[in-house]
Amino acid sequence: MPLVTTAEMFKKAYDGGYAVGAFNVNNMEIVQGITEACQEQKAPVVLQVSKGARAYANHTYLVKMVEAAVIECPDVPIALHLDHGPDFETCKACIDGGFTSVMIDASSKPFDENVEITKKVVEYAHAHGVVVEAELGTLAGVEDDVKVSAEDSSYTHPEEVEEFVTRTGCDSLAIAIGTSHGAYKFTPDQCTRNEQGILVPPPLRFDVLEEVSKRLPGFPIVLHGSSSVPQDFVQMINAHGGKMPDAIGIPEEELRHAAQLSVCKINIDSDIRLAITATIREYFDAHPDHFDPRQYLKPARQAVKDMVTHKLINVLGCNGKA
Ligand code: G3H
Ligand code: 13P
Ligand code: ZN
Repeated sequence: MPLVTTAEMFKKAYDGGYAVGAFNVNNMEIVQGITEACQEQKAPVVLQVSKGARAYANHTYLVKMVEAAVIECPDVPIALHLDHGPDFETCKACIDGGFTSVMIDASSKPFDENVEITKKVVEYAHAHGVVVEAELGTLAGVEDDVKVSAEDSSYTHPEEVEEFVTRTGCDSLAIAIGTSHGAYKFTPDQCTRNEQGILVPPPLRFDVLEEVSKRLPGFPIVLHGSSSVPQDFVQMINAHGGKMPDAIGIPEEELRHAAQLSVCKINIDSDIRLAITATIREYFDAHPDHFDPRQYLKPARQAVKDMVTHKLINVLGCNGKA
């Protein structure tokens, strides 16, 4: 099947009580690792490309790699999505250049300005058969070159969502309920410790999610910053020359719960980076004489596939939903 928009996948996810995974792609091994897992698990998927990914890998290479995945994975609905579109021009370039979905992220702007720019993107996108994700509320962490401190982040105000969706006509809405971008989502002093001394992050604000859903029945909600930062990967990295103290993510049970509610798209990027880095660090320690990139990129790609398979089945619940 050709590339699809997210409209039908989100409707099925909403009704079925699961979420679709949105995984960031930056190179061939990442595209292959994700889509091989989705093909095997018969899971719909969003492959998303950030401004940084376009700068790194080039728009055309990314689109063509995703088109190759569409051919190789005939049983899987795949959407190609712009992640954190910073302005109208970038969204337009992706709409004109083969994407089926774009995000306009004007969440750092005042409400009326966010509405205005989102509406402009929606008008252009809908005229070209493309769907639009928008954002209300600000996540902490780093996305592209923008760093938002925990103090400057803010939860979505549920009382704003109906007006925002009505005025903009957006197709899905990313909200802030306590997730955060990157591998260091919380500082140790924001966390508690369990009996084993392991950091436990503050719980997500499910009350905000429920209030938003009540005001927008049937409307697909998106969670950014939803990597779980698996501690196995962090330990592997640290055991093989890396230094990632106190890296911490969102507990998988919380994401599973969100997926059963109105959250239809869950964004995961950092866990891909950790899987690759942990695998390659371990590989280099074990094989200091190897220098053929295929030797270490092959297990790295497999690690992405294994990690994504785990998410599809145990976190998102979208296996078998293609
Ligand atoms: O939200 C940010 C994503 O993880 C993309 O990261 O801008 O470094 O490609 P990036
Ligand atoms: P993570 O950094 O938690 O993987 O979030 C990725 C993301 O939200 C991409 O938009
Ligand atoms: Zn994000």
